Amino acid sequence: MSAPKKLFIKTYGCQMNVYDSERMLEALGGKGYVETQSPDDADMILLNTCHIREKAAEKVYSELGRYKGLKAENPDLKIGVAGCVAQAEGEEIMRRQPMVDLVVGPQSYHRLPAMEDALAQGQKALDTDFPEEDKFEILKRRPKSGRGPTAFLTVQEGCDKFCSFCVVPYTRGAEVSRPADRIIREAQELVEAGVREITLLGQNVNAYNGHDRGLAGLIWELDQIDGLARIRFTTSHPNDMDDALIEAHGTCEKLMPYLHLPVQSGSDRILKAMNRKHTAEDYLRLIERIRAARPDLHLSGDFIVGFPGETDADFEDTLTITREAGYGTAFSFKYSPRPGTPAAEKTAKMVDPDVASERLQRLQDQINTQQRTLQDAMVGREVSVLFEKPGRLDGQMVGKSEYLHAVHVSGADVAPGDIRKVLIEQSAPNSLGGSLA
Ligand code: 5AD
Ligand code: SF4
Repeated sequence: MSAPKKLFIKTYGCQMNVYDSERMLEALGGKGYVETQSPDDADMILLNTCHIREKAAEKVYSELGRYKGLKAENPDLKIGVAGCVAQAEGEEIMRRQPMVDLVVGPQSYHRLPAMEDALAQGQKALDTDFPEEDKFEILKRRPKSGRGPTAFLTVQEGCDKFCSFCVVPYTRGAEVSRPADRIIREAQELVEAGVREITLLGQNVNAYNGHDRGLAGLIWELDQIDGLARIRFTTSHPNDMDDALIEAHGTCEKLMPYLHLPVQSGSDRILKAMNRKHTAEDYLRLIERIRAARPDLHLSGDFIVGFPGETDADFEDTLTITREAGYGTAFSFKYSPRPGTPAAEKTAKMVDPDVASERLQRLQDQINTQQRTLQDAMVGREVSVLFEKPGRLDGQMVGKSEYLHAVHVSGADVAPGDIRKVLIEQSAPNSLGGSLA
């Protein structure tokens, strides 16, 4: 048998890309590839890219530039670009950077084995189709070995919401949900391989409609799988939080009390311009209803500052909603015009970049203070921790609380996959520490 070929995958962006990278590795595994952690000894380098914010394409070109020397040393080295930048600018990438052999979009990576055949014959390969066939059915079963206790599982792709700032509806296409029975089969396989926590992924995961009772229906089916202890989902849109899903947060024990529900802005004027189709008040009332079902819910969100036309008063509304919603975690970004999106045309209304930077800093400071206060309040409380791996210190193990805090425990007899009660004793900037309760 010939020696395995080595594949180096570098993943940018969201968890959906992490999942896709795993599946691309599996697809190329059938062609004799194994993963390597270093580009230096790779036979193929694949960049799985993200297009959501600024300078995405430039980052890809500069990263590709770093591999020039490797390609010169080893002309057989294959270089590929996958993900959302590949989808949006694939042909341009091939024109501008002749060292790229392969371009594959997020909807066509099940065709990688055939594309690899073309590369082996010295050809180039480009596929940015939105094919009819279900890529997950073609990729089929996932290997059992080498898994940790947590896994991502993509259940829905694409977005029909068309927020005016966002490229996702263009790069990932229209909303498509995978049929529930196939997801359940994949989840069962993951659990047989030792997985105890599954995070259901979708660009707009709570719009999932592959089950007649929506995402809540799917969650209740997964709840039946013995050995699966925890279910999470991300990312959600406020307008798709239906009653059944809210109720599940109160009644489904396996559904973890953590919800990533971006609001993007606290100003109704800006929300309208963003095409979010809800007001700040709608959002706050929704959070109240979810907290009524699950009082200890840890809320997470995303914000954009400096959206075209944002005034100081609009920004103050964002600071206000951040406080009122009580985020345990939040991510904030400076608006970046994405080619082809409606907001990118509002060039006359662009916010001064210095003003946007200052707003970002203020929002981040406020979010950090809030996060830290909520995290510090965990000291003295008992949480349930799913242990994942050894920590940096000798004898230390790290895992995640039900609220997704990283928690480390030293000198305890626990193994990856164990779920144990931990009494929290310390709060550090990005993690909690404690001992088995
Ligand atoms: N500029 C800045 N942030 C953006 N996001 C999406 N598009 C843009 C953009 N054009 C942010 C949103 C989204 C997160 C994944 O990225 O907050 O929720
Ligand atoms: Fe983008 Fe809005 Fe769809 Fe989220 S809901 S992926 S922000 S268009």
